[in-house]
Amino acid sequence: MRILTVVGARPNFVKVAPLLDEMKRYPEVETILVHTGQHYDYQMSRAFFEELEIPKPHINLDVGSGTPVRQTAEIMLRLERVMEQTQPHVMVAVGDVNSTLSAALTAVKMGYPIAHVEAGLRSLDRNMPEEINRILTDALADFLFVTEQSGVENLLREGRPKERIYFVGNVMIDALKRSLERARRHPLPDDLGLMDRSMINLDRPFGLVTLHRPATVDDPTVLREVWTALENVAAEIPLIFPVHPRTQSRLEACGLWRRAGGSSAGILRVRPLTYLEFLHLQSKATLVVTDSGGVQEETTALGVPCLTVRETTERPITVTEGTNVLVGLNGTRLIDEVHTVLRDGGKKGRIPNLWDGQASARIVRTLVHVIPQTLAHSHDGWHDCLAGVGMAAQTVA
Ligand code: UD1
Repeated sequence: MRILTVVGARPNFVKVAPLLDEMKRYPEVETILVHTGQHYDYQMSRAFFEELEIPKPHINLDVGSGTPVRQTAEIMLRLERVMEQTQPHVMVAVGDVNSTLSAALTAVKMGYPIAHVEAGLRSLDRNMPEEINRILTDALADFLFVTEQSGVENLLREGRPKERIYFVGNVMIDALKRSLERARRHPLPDDLGLMDRSMINLDRPFGLVTLHRPATVDDPTVLREVWTALENVAAEIPLIFPVHPRTQSRLEACGLWRRAGGSSAGILRVRPLTYLEFLHLQSKATLVVTDSGGVQEETTALGVPCLTVRETTERPITVTEGTNVLVGLNGTRLIDEVHTVLRDGGKKGRIPNLWDGQASARIVRTLVHVIPQTLAHSHDGWHDCLAGVGMAAQTVA
């Protein structure tokens, strides 16, 4: 059984680490790992492979940066050749980045079954490139592996058949659980600037900030509002801010990068962190301010208060059950919510159903169980066959 797994951007790497580990447990599974090259900097890519012990990709498509159209088209063209050569029985794609959609489009055009891990999440905001990637990937996928109940409901509403939907839990939390102890012991190197205790003392309260979404950083007015709020917050609690390459270029373009070195000394900007470095800081933080998707989930799993500077979330369970508060793109609200956390500790939350570290085991078990039953079938018979194996929209416990 040949499983072709495609990754491209930073959050993908975290999600496939436990999946690939799990695949190793099945001798009948042959795994082929393809890296599209969407993320290519050491800090955005290789560092994650090293720390999470992800095997070196068999193939790197080396597409690099570009407009979304160019990136998508290039990945498809290069992946077509790989699929022709490898003839996988299923293609696994994770998350919602451009590489995810490109892989799904290529597989469906070539007649290969698709498994989408982290299916069904919806922000209902079609201005987000990730939302378009999610909707389209889910429309094409044969196996839809879902992290939270809202995902099942969204997929059913969009007309996806219930026998294709598997509620399995969250592979991001599998990775977190496997790495947390190691992360807590993981040394933070000098080049983060964190060893300068006069700036940040990790034994005292601090906040951790990540911002990189186009909606937050591409509009200078929004970026200024959020940045000014963070400067205010930093007067009360020091902030550590690992800066994504996109964010750095936007801060430079609107003159905030220089100002950051001067008047906002309480905001310590550092390079993009590796997985273990970031998890280490996240687990100790008093609060996290973010516009990331995955960080909303990780803070919920860690019980750390999370203030999300977005109007919507595709991960509503982090708000209804977890530690997440949506503050919108509103500086005053952000400052108010920080005060609430500093005053009473913030939301406590609980761990969502099936976020127990076993999602990847459930996913691989499902694939290994279903795929052999399809091998005797032509592609035309594939969908009938899936319906025939008796796996209904289900919680895979
Ligand atoms: C992508 C994902 C986003 C995810 C994020 C995590 C899409 C649509 N978005 O956004 O969902 O949360 O990754 O980081 O796929 N760059 C570098 N080095 C790199 C990679 C990128 O400098 O290794 C710079 C380039 O200037 C590039 C820019 O960052 O143009 C943006 O990269 P891109 O992959 O297009 O999207 P992200 O903003 O990283």
